[in-house]
Amino acid sequence: MKITMVGTGYVGLVTGTCFAEFGHHITCVDKDQKKIDMLNNGSIPIYEPGLDALVAKNCKEGRLIFTSKLSDAVAEAEAVFLAVGTPSSRRGDGYADLSYIYEATKEIAAHLKGYTIIVDKSTVPVGTARQVERIIREVNPEADFDIASNPEFLREGAAITDFMRPDRVVIGVESQKAEDILRTIYQPLFLQETPIVKTDIETAELTKYAANAFLAVKISFINEIALLCDTIGADVVSLARGIGMDGRIGKKFLHPGPGYGGSCFPKDTLALMRIAQEYGQNLRIVEAAVEVNAAQKAKMIKKIRDVLGGSEAGKTLAILGLTFKPETDDMRDSPALTILPALLEKGAVLKAHDPQGMLEAQKLLPAGIQYMSDVYSACEEADAVVLMTEWNQYRALDLESLATKMRGKIFIDLRNVYEPEKLKERGFVYVGVGRS
Ligand SMILES: NC(=O)c1ccc[n+]([C@@H]2O[C@H](COP(=O)([O-])OP(=O)(O)OC[C@H]3O[C@@H](n4cnc5c(N)ncnc54)[C@H](O)[C@@H]3O)[C@@H](O)[C@H]2O)c1
Repeated sequence: MKITMVGTGYVGLVTGTCFAEFGHHITCVDKDQKKIDMLNNGSIPIYEPGLDALVAKNCKEGRLIFTSKLSDAVAEAEAVFLAVGTPSSRRGDGYADLSYIYEATKEIAAHLKGYTIIVDKSTVPVGTARQVERIIREVNPEADFDIASNPEFLREGAAITDFMRPDRVVIGVESQKAEDILRTIYQPLFLQETPIVKTDIETAELTKYAANAFLAVKISFINEIALLCDTIGADVVSLARGIGMDGRIGKKFLHPGPGYGGSCFPKDTLALMRIAQEYGQNLRIVEAAVEVNAAQKAKMIKKIRDVLGGSEAGKTLAILGLTFKPETDDMRDSPALTILPALLEKGAVLKAHDPQGMLEAQKLLPAGIQYMSDVYSACEEADAVVLMTEWNQYRALDLESLATKMRGKIFIDLRNVYEPEKLKERGFVYVGVGRS
């Protein structure tokens, strides 16, 4: 099948590449010419494990091409997917900014030829597909098309596996023709018996927000419990095992940390709250999760300050990890963007390291942070280590070497990677989250 992917970012590039791997013919379009040039020159604009090899393979086999020209790509396609960004609006009111969606829709509408389905893969508020339909009818009254919603649930860092072996595929459709096309696109997944959840379009749109909000609630829940553990002197890691083994609860997303971040949970929880409010309802549990998440970052700053004796002024901190999670270079809404500026402002000296995120981090963090090319040079003369992101390379640090390089011996583990006892045995003061 001939498919066009409009938007070649974290979702569009992975989706387009995986569809090509399924055997479809994919044109990935992006208005960012630099991105397209990079892809056409064989480099990948984002860090996502395994993506480079899969892109190269499918390009070589002639099923995947990249262009900034939408016109031909849309005219020839049987399905056009929208995978452009839907960030929080710049007004700061939590609403999703749909300008990229509507802009792309206008461009698509003008070039439609023959029957086409327009599929929303971006995360969009309820009613967006209807607006897309309205815009297309306005721009091109002759167009023969259906709209559909097919939200994406992949996780950055594990995007290819998530896409190739999803727990489910949600399709929101209102015509048999559109349903048949989407089922054909996802046909290769039938072999592994991936469930297809067919809904109406509005339900599909809302399903994505509900999924992200639920996961955000789960994270905020365990973060609050971790704070209680800190106060009581209980151990949240054992507690999380104790509750997570209950099949009704599940063990995933029960790892306390510095608060959730990334390109989805922060913006999607806010957007869902606004959607609900527009319909006269307050989602109080989601609102609480958002509040708890903001407070969590502040609590982490206080945790760091307290262990440094009440002030970070003049103290050198080795910051290990900047991205919101490992195996990505995505810095969007990373807790580091809140925590580091606060420490810097109070006079801390920050020496940061991240395996993939330093380039992006430098664009978003204030000047004055030193970016180090390896972990151990970041720790030289440091009063404390702050482990912010649980990259694999931080999981088995040479603690002897760390101890000789550091000035102080404080280890602040905001991801609970290390066993407190092991660090204490080596003379470190250890501070985790919910492990006092
Ligand atoms: N990143 C994730 O982990 C993830 C997971 C699931 C769903 N989503 C959702 O998927 C959508 C895309 O997210 P992303 O992280 O891939 O965003 P992104 O910012 O990485 O990519 C969006 C791309 O769209 C391009 N674009 C914008 N307008 C365009 C136009 N008119 N024509 C062509 N290209 C255009 C941009 O240049 C950019 O490259 C969002 O709605 C997001 O919420 C993201």
